[in-house]
Amino acid sequence: MEVLELFLFAVLATAFCLSPSLVHAQDQSGFISIDCGIKEGSSYTDKITGLHYVSDENYTDAGVNKNISSKINTTGIDNQYLNLRSFPDGNKICYTLKPVRSKNKYLIRARFLYGNYDELDDVPRFDLYLGVNWWETVTLTDASTPFTATMVHLLSSDYIDICLVNTGFGTPFISVLELRLLDDKTYSNVSSLTYFRSGCGLAKTDLIRFSDDVYDRIWSSYLPDDCEVKRTSYAIKSPDDDKYNVPSAIMQGAAVPINQSNPIVLIFIRDDPTTQFFLYLHFAEIEKLPENQTREFNIYVNNKLWRGPIVPTYLKRTTVSSISASEGKEFKVSINKTINSTLPPLLNAIELYLVRKLLQAETYEDDVHAVMNIKSYYKVKRYWQGDPCGPKTARWQGLSCSYVAYDPPRITSLDLSSSGLIGEISPDILNLKMIQYLDLSNNSLRGSIPNFLSRLPYLRVLNLSENELSGSVPSELNERSKNGTLILNVEKNKLLCSSDCKNKAIVPVVATVIPVFILVLIAVAVFWFCKRRKQGEVNEYTRAPKLNERHFSYSEVLTITTNFGRILGEGQFARVYHGYVDRTQVAVKIFSSSVAQAYKQFSDDAKLLTGVRHTNLVTYFGYCDEDSNRALIFEHMINGNLEHVLLDRNANILSWQERLQIAKDVAQGLEYLHDGCRSPIIHGNLKPTNILLNENFQAKLADFGLSKIFTIEGSTKEYIDPEYYVTSKLTEKSDVYSFGVVLLAIIASRPVIDGDQEQAHIIQWASTLLGRGEIKGIVDSRLQGDYLLDSVWKAVELAMACASRASINRPVITQVVMALSHCLAMEISRVNRSEGTIEMVSVNLGTGMVPQAR
Ligand SMILES: *[C@@H]1O[C@H](CO)[C@@H](O)[C@H](O)[C@H]1NC(C)=O
Ligand SMILES: *[C@@H]1O[C@H](CO)[C@@H](O)[C@H](O)[C@H]1NC(C)=O
Ligand SMILES: *[C@@H]1O[C@H](CO)[C@@H](O)[C@H](O)[C@H]1NC(C)=O
Ligand SMILES: *[C@@H]1O[C@H](CO)[C@@H](O)[C@H](O)[C@H]1NC(C)=O
Ligand SMILES: *[C@@H]1O[C@H](CO)[C@@H](O)[C@H](O)[C@H]1NC(C)=O
Ligand SMILES: *[C@@H]1O[C@H](CO)[C@@H](O)[C@H](O)[C@H]1NC(C)=O
Ligand SMILES: *[C@@H]1O[C@H](CO)[C@@H](O)[C@H](O)[C@H]1NC(C)=O
Ligand SMILES: *[C@@H]1O[C@H](CO)[C@@H](O)[C@H](O)[C@H]1NC(C)=O
Ligand SMILES: *[C@@H]1O[C@H](CO)[C@@H](O)[C@H](O)[C@H]1NC(C)=O
Ligand SMILES: *[C@@H]1O[C@H](CO)[C@@H](O)[C@H](O)[C@H]1NC(C)=O
Ligand SMILES: *[C@@H]1O[C@H](CO)[C@@H](O)[C@H](O)[C@H]1NC(C)=O
Repeated sequence: MEVLELFLFAVLATAFCLSPSLVHAQDQSGFISIDCGIKEGSSYTDKITGLHYVSDENYTDAGVNKNISSKINTTGIDNQYLNLRSFPDGNKICYTLKPVRSKNKYLIRARFLYGNYDELDDVPRFDLYLGVNWWETVTLTDASTPFTATMVHLLSSDYIDICLVNTGFGTPFISVLELRLLDDKTYSNVSSLTYFRSGCGLAKTDLIRFSDDVYDRIWSSYLPDDCEVKRTSYAIKSPDDDKYNVPSAIMQGAAVPINQSNPIVLIFIRDDPTTQFFLYLHFAEIEKLPENQTREFNIYVNNKLWRGPIVPTYLKRTTVSSISASEGKEFKVSINKTINSTLPPLLNAIELYLVRKLLQAETYEDDVHAVMNIKSYYKVKRYWQGDPCGPKTARWQGLSCSYVAYDPPRITSLDLSSSGLIGEISPDILNLKMIQYLDLSNNSLRGSIPNFLSRLPYLRVLNLSENELSGSVPSELNERSKNGTLILNVEKNKLLCSSDCKNKAIVPVVATVIPVFILVLIAVAVFWFCKRRKQGEVNEYTRAPKLNERHFSYSEVLTITTNFGRILGEGQFARVYHGYVDRTQVAVKIFSSSVAQAYKQFSDDAKLLTGVRHTNLVTYFGYCDEDSNRALIFEHMINGNLEHVLLDRNANILSWQERLQIAKDVAQGLEYLHDGCRSPIIHGNLKPTNILLNENFQAKLADFGLSKIFTIEGSTKEYIDPEYYVTSKLTEKSDVYSFGVVLLAIIASRPVIDGDQEQAHIIQWASTLLGRGEIKGIVDSRLQGDYLLDSVWKAVELAMACASRASINRPVITQVVMALSHCLAMEISRVNRSEGTIEMVSVNLGTGMVPQAR
């Protein structure tokens, strides 16, 4: 018995060479054979298969042609692999194929060989989509091993998009794309991937395809365990009523058990217990049996009788196939002879397919037509390929869509600002019925503002500023703008009349009187108000999310953020947007798709986070984990992050007492993480940008509890425990180190690395000053001495102890909290003019606490 590692099969199959015999002229009318990367307009007939390959310029308009590296050993590699087309630009690239016969069943095959074409020795990984549905992740093992994805698919329209999606792991490319018309009566109507296709009697290195196989399926050899091959030299006929057309060359060989009393057994194992298989077995008797001999067998699938008894016909094929899919992790096929059979069972060929559920619908048809027309009308120079909204992770740049389950997505926002548009405002916009946000600003649009824009029922933002529009603003738009149901921006259109029109255009006048940003602020506020009041109407397609939910769908995230309407901040790995849940302001952190893909533990981390509550920790209300959309929804903190407050010279100066309070809040937050949770949580990424301040300047930690790998990658080096580089381990003491650095930054209002200073890092800088006894040089000079010096000394010493190089010399966080409480008490009593009444509490800060000269 053998467990077949079948996913390797497709890869191996195409690595072998085809024998150059038997090239007949055969019908290729239902075929499309594209050799990606050959010279534009060229075509050739492959010497081995006789297939006619064409270049790909009629199927895509993106990418560049490349040859594989000359250093690759091309012996035995198909000619089609010698060149490829690579797509460095655009997140989704599609090949649009229009087969001669639409709505038929096709075998679609995409093949890839990296061949180190870019000389980077870096094998990329990317996703392959059939239209808007995921087909396969192209996972190449090395530069010279091909990868093949094959699907049997019943077309539902007259074209098919095959798309490559960049997922952040290298530049997508493609070597070969092949489409083969099948007979509709073959195989299942459910789309399925070729998982295994073998002839049992083939020699090990044989590979059979066109023209032996009229459908150009690729067959390799596979001999089940404990079997031997029997062959006949006579051709095997197909039955008249079935069109599987398995080549005679394959049917002429069969596997039979070496021990005549044993069955033939095949076992397939997959990780996913919901895997669904379709099985096709092909049989033909290859021996002329004497009168007193019989060959009769039953087929069992997972020990249940599946088909039988079967008596194969001499030199004529019998195909036994699944009617419905079988589900399971393990799939065991056993072919046992019956009691009356004098001969062992045999098996000539086997095919196994995995069901691929293509559930996601394409974008709503009217929206597609509208946006396609807009694209061609303005000759939009963007990588707008394939379906506008799908897949969700690779929708057209500048579009937002609403997604509800697998229903057709609707376009809700179109941003074509600064896109070099020329011409009038396209009437096709009227067909984007669900649009809420339309930005055509900063283009060269001419003509008048059409009145039809007021007929878009859900339109909430219309930005036509910085164009060359003329005439007057339609009165209905003006009215909607006035009564707050529309944010309208028509500024900087020189020819748009303002005062001497029939209907006095109010917007431009107002805009010149009230500074733009105030107008926008008011508009945004009105917008929010209306939006929330009219939620039921605006979001027909999404229900209103609730704060007590923990798990949010992506469409809810869109609702919460009004399609990512307002950005609060942006980091290397994520963006934070403003939003509302249940009328509560929230912040929504959206991880970039590359991070989201790599961040396997996200769900676990997020669940943990939503359970952690403390006054000095930002409250995580919930999260979204849908496909590769990953978001965290948490408390919105009005006063932003600590770095902004410390370093922005326009921000209010924090008093010494406020600084100590913030430091204590931070320490308490850490204390809770380290000691207050069931198992300690290491923050791992403490820095001023992760410390947020609410309306009372109370500090709360954010970004805690995210996966360590993730936090280290995202961390700023200046705050990381120096020991981490030796041990590769983060401990509670690592957080204490980061806290020390943060505390110094709070005291000094100085960037941690200041290129202008001799001692660039804040710790070196502070210890130099401390060595000279210049304590006042460390404190933010803007405080102008308004503090108790003793309290400053203690705080600076504490910071230096925390930031000791050796972790053993750092205090634990509880000691830090105590020391800060003490400093704060001293300062409060000074402020209250009751200095000196507080008893000095001595706190042991660990052995690393070097006494400083005062
Ligand atoms: C591309 O299309 C044009 C026009 O239909 C045709 O003349 C040309 O032969 C096609 N090129 C290929 C490689 O199919
Ligand atoms: C690839 O190689 C062919 C011939 O071997 C050559 O004509 C062609 O210019 C090369 N293409 C590129 C993109 O280097
Ligand atoms: C290339 O590969 C073939 C078959 O895999 C092998 O026989 C040949 O020696 C290889 N050539 C070089 C230069 O490595
Ligand atoms: C499969 O699709 C074909 C063509 O649409 C149709 O004629 C046939 O009845 C379908 N078969 C099944 C089993 O649904
Ligand atoms: C064949 O298999 C049967 C049952 O598994 C076993 O009893 C018998 O010894 C085997 N014969 C040979 C020749 O191995
Ligand atoms: C079948 O008949 C042949 C002779 O015609 C004889 O040699 C053989 O033993 C028979 N086999 C069986 C299984 O009866
Ligand atoms: C068929 O063969 C399998 C594998 O040896 C065995 O487990 C099973 O019991 C057999 N079934 C019958 C009905 O003989
Ligand atoms: C086996 O053969 C005998 C005699 O021809 C017949 O009566 C019996 O039904 C057969 N058994 C099976 C399971 O086919
Ligand atoms: C307007 O568009 C031009 C180029 O089309 C660009 O350089 C400029 O930055 C844009 N202005 C704004 C405000 O976006
Ligand atoms: C409108 O577009 C301009 C230019 O692109 C931009 O500066 C402005 O913020 C936008 N206004 C609104 C309300 O979106
Ligand atoms: C705002 O004005 C538009 C256009 O006149 C009108 O259809 C709409 O009902 C008004 N809405 C409110 C809330 O007044």
